[in-house]
Formats: sequence, C-alpha cells, structure tokens
Amino acid sequence: MSSAKDIFKLHQAQTFPFPSCLEIESAKGSYIYDVNGKAYLDFVAGVSANTIGHSNPIITNAVKEQLEKYTHVMVYGEYVQSPQYKLAQLLSDNLPKRLSTTYFVNSGTEAIEGAMKLAKRATGRSEIISCKDSYHGSTQGALSIMGNEDHKAKYRPLLPHCNQIIFNDKNSIDRITKKTAAVVIELIQGGTGFITITNDFLKKVRERCNGTGTLLIFDEIQTCYGRLGTLFGFEKYDIIPDILCIAKGMGGGMPIGAFISSWELMNLLTLKPKLGHITTFGGHPVNCSASLACLEHLLSSNMMNEADKKEKLFREHLNHPKIKEIRGTGLILAVELDSEELTKKVVEKSLENGLILFYFLFTKTSFRITPPLTISEEEIIEGCEIIKKQL
Ligand SMILES: Cc1ncc(COP(=O)(O)O)c(C=O)c1O
Repeated sequence: MSSAKDIFKLHQAQTFPFPSCLEIESAKGSYIYDVNGKAYLDFVAGVSANTIGHSNPIITNAVKEQLEKYTHVMVYGEYVQSPQYKLAQLLSDNLPKRLSTTYFVNSGTEAIEGAMKLAKRATGRSEIISCKDSYHGSTQGALSIMGNEDHKAKYRPLLPHCNQIIFNDKNSIDRITKKTAAVVIELIQGGTGFITITNDFLKKVRERCNGTGTLLIFDEIQTCYGRLGTLFGFEKYDIIPDILCIAKGMGGGMPIGAFISSWELMNLLTLKPKLGHITTFGGHPVNCSASLACLEHLLSSNMMNEADKKEKLFREHLNHPKIKEIRGTGLILAVELDSEELTKKVVEKSLENGLILFYFLFTKTSFRITPPLTISEEEIIEGCEIIKKQL
C-alpha cells in the first residue's frame, strides 16, 4: 500500500522539488505535532499566517460559531453579513480616514490584483511601478510586478507597462511619472530576506506620488496584524498609502485577504461597468469571523507591544560567530549565514531536532523566523538554542 508521503508526492501537485514532507497530526500554540507524536517548535507560523498560535480557541470558537450559523450564502457583496461588515468597520476604526472601505478577497495575491485594477480605474493610467526584488503574489498581475526576472521569464508575456524602482534608493524615484497609475511597495521586502526601509525612502516615494497623481499601494500582506509591533507596518513610518493590501496573518490561520481604500475610490469598481471586481468566496463569513476574532484579540491584549521585546530576545540569544546579520523588525526576522549550504543544513538539522525554520524565495543565504506572536520567552530561547547547536 502507498504511504501518505507517496500519495502526497504523486497526487498532489508539487511546488518545490524537496518538500520536508512533515506528516501533520495536529498543532497547538507554538507547536506542530507529526503523526508519530513528535513536537516541532514552529518559528514560521505557516509563513506569517498563524498570528495568535495554532488552534487558538479564540479562532476555533469564532469559526465553530459561524459554521453553525451559516457558511456561504451568496457571492461576495450582495447580502449584509455580520462577520463581513463588523470586520470592515473594525478595520476602518483602526485605520486613517482615507482607508475607510474594505474589499475582502481570498488571498494576498488577489488583494494585489484588486488594488492594481483599482489604481488603473482611478487614474486612467496603465503603468504600475514596483521595486526590484519585490514579491507580491503568483497570479499573472501580481507576477507582472514581481521584481525577479528568473521567476517571471517562463510566464511571459505578462502585463505591459510594469516598471521598477530600487527599494531604498531615492535616486530611482524619478521613474515615477504622470504616466504611473500606482507604486506598489512592501514595507519589509520579504523575498530577499526581510530588508527594512531605510532613510526617508517611503516619505520621498509618497511625495513623488503626490506630485505625479500616482496612487501609493502598500503591500502589508505579510506585515499586517501586529507582526511589526503595530497593527499595520505603515504606522511605524507615519506615511499613509492610498490603497492598503493585507492577508496572511489577518485570518489567524484562515484564508482571507483584503484591499482597503477610500469609499470614493473603492466605489469606482461598482459602476460603468458594474461588477468591476467580483469574487464568489471573497470575505467568506467563516474566515471573516476568524479575522474579526483575531483583530479583537490583538486590540484588547498586550501582544503587539511585546513584539519588540521578543525581537530583542531573539537577537540576544542568536549570538553566534556564524551568524553574519539578523535583519527585520518585530517578529519578522531573517538570519543571514555564510553560505547556501550552511543555511540548508541548519534548516534541515533544526527540523530533525524539533524546530521549524524556512527559506526565502530569492536569497539563499538566510532563513526566516516569523513565529506566532503568542510565542513565549521560554520557547524563543529553546528555539535559539537548537539553532546554535546546529551551527
Ligand atoms: C509581501 C507579499 N505579498 C503578496 C503575497 C501573496 O499572498 P498569497 O500567498 O496569500 O497569495 C505574499 C505571500 O507570501 C507576500 O509575502
């Protein structure tokens, strides 16, 4: 008889030639358990998605409650459903006035698609500018603005009029012109290993967009819901986008995304032609319930404030001569090593020793640390010790 791993490899499309093939039984808090009962401390959180830990009763109860009321009742945007409008309102209450209206979708890449369409509609322009080395998702619109040619080349032709500036390079900003519909920027560049914004790059981009009538889109798909220590990363920089894209951690482990803008801009998608953006399952009530519960918990607990302290603890305990650099902010950290070989070894050996780490899309010499925000100080120290042992 075929093993579960054989079936997985044969009948489930593979994304990567060497998956870890960890066979999951359950997950709770900061730990994932395999079918043999072995515990793995999770420093990845489903790639920044399990914000308040695995199987958190706050999420589980919200999901169960909603499941018992109703699941899918109609395509998105037709009926008034309390999980959706309550989440939209709470988001609006915690965002600047300009970001008052939310369109819920199913994923991060769809949030980017919606934002790109909205920017084209609002400006009547077609050029979208992103940053070299950026990642915004895998569908063809999002792929068109990805800043890495290796990952795009085989899928061309993609969207025309997609150009790039250089992350953190103020000299490249003059490529934004009156032809540019939107500039899309991650607040921490993920694919290259969590490069943070330096100097006043963001401020300069905002000023340039104001001057050219270009919309500024922040991709906070990975940084939203407290990962940087603030609900949204842009609060740290005091620069407000015209459109905000969020996903991943906003679902507390359930699949949901959103693009958020002003009521005036967002309603351009409603008319002429009507139904300018549609989705069947976007803003699924069960997923909105999970996201609402997650958001309420973040706002009523001290969890976001603790991200800073936890970052410091990681930095303090990852003191090893083979670690060249630790990049990132809050609970979104990249550990830079000497070589690809060493990085691969540390990730693989850590897994054998009960710690989950993960790779980046573009850089090969770093591994990521993006644990649930609920991770305890003891768990941070336990995981850092495992990493140091492998080094
Ligand atoms: C910055 C950023 N944008 C967009 C995406 C795409 O999101 P999703 O995988 O939910 O489609 C990701 C996912 O890794 C991301 O990190």
